[in-house]
Amino acid sequence: MISNSEYRPILDLLVCPECKVGLRAQEDKLICSNCNSEFTGSNGIYNMIGGQLSRHDLEQQRVADETCAGYHKFLITRPLYGLIRDKYVLPYWLKDNFDGKSILDIGSGTGWSTCVIAARASMLVNLDISLERLRFAKARLEAQNVIYVQGDMKKTPFPDKKFDIILSYGSLHHLDNPETAIAEIGRVMNKNGVFLAIEPNIKFTWVEFWNEILHLPKPLEKRITNLYKVAQKYTKKQLEKEQPYLKNIKSKEELHEGTRDIDWYKNMFAKFSFKLEYQPVGLEMVPPRLLMSKNRILVESLLKCSEWCINRFKKEKNAYFNIMRATRDTDGATTAK
Ligand SMILES: C[S@@+](CC[C@H](N)C(=O)[O-])C[C@H]1O[C@@H](n2cnc3c(N)ncnc32)[C@H](O)[C@@H]1O
Ligand SMILES: [Zn+2]
Repeated sequence: MISNSEYRPILDLLVCPECKVGLRAQEDKLICSNCNSEFTGSNGIYNMIGGQLSRHDLEQQRVADETCAGYHKFLITRPLYGLIRDKYVLPYWLKDNFDGKSILDIGSGTGWSTCVIAARASMLVNLDISLERLRFAKARLEAQNVIYVQGDMKKTPFPDKKFDIILSYGSLHHLDNPETAIAEIGRVMNKNGVFLAIEPNIKFTWVEFWNEILHLPKPLEKRITNLYKVAQKYTKKQLEKEQPYLKNIKSKEELHEGTRDIDWYKNMFAKFSFKLEYQPVGLEMVPPRLLMSKNRILVESLLKCSEWCINRFKKEKNAYFNIMRATRDTDGATTAK
């Protein structure tokens, strides 16, 4: 249980996720002043999931809980992920000044992506639906200024305009309706705030890439694409070997249902009066198994080639991921299509 004295410092940070009104501390609970919902926590992690989670979110939560350590190990043993984070995402994100800022990381997971941020921020709030992932992150990150909140990023327990910077490292595409989280980002971000993200792009295959470059005749293109689809399918056994943390998961696609392309993001952010800048990263020019290789030099070279091809052949729409930066559109320059 979290003690009464531990609750006091976060009383101006947390609100009821349903009513968005303040909470009062009573014994070892936080109580909504409007609907009287009670919130508790354990070992420094506040449980702020109000009400019942949807079936989709319960499944996300189950998978995230069960795959916590396996997923973390996968990230640190595949050079692709560390390279993308260190050579592309963090340099892009850190162009904004993080010093002394209040930061919210939505879908913070095990803290793999944003652990370096804590040292710069005045306060880093890690929000995730998975208690196991928050526990894992808390055990690894010893920084004093990090607060751990179990909650739903579509219905966050924070007051309006609370954060200077909001981060999402690969979390929005886990939602069945990412637009709800974007609305919530707009609510909790302050007037001059920044939203920084990296999200996967909708999938383009390496066959499509080469078809476009070499301009293959249409019938041949179709045949190769069909062949590719058959050859590409992982058997259950191969998938277990490649991504062992997915062993008990029915469908990887369902988990990533919210994957969108950059035009969707541009329109959605415009709808909420944000303007969006972005940088595409990585291309599927080779079978993905090569990108998953443990050979760092190979993967680094493939990323360099991707960078070159994106610029040379204007292939940004085929990128693997999009790094994004959204700010409020104060001059109203952007309009949703
Ligand atoms: C791909 S992981 C990314 C984790 C972390 N950002 C990182 O880079 O390692 C996606 C995370 O989103 C979380 N998540 C999924 N749905 C969520 C929701 N509705 N609210 C909050 N977190 C959610 C999962 O529990 C998981 O930790
Ligand atoms: Zn309430």
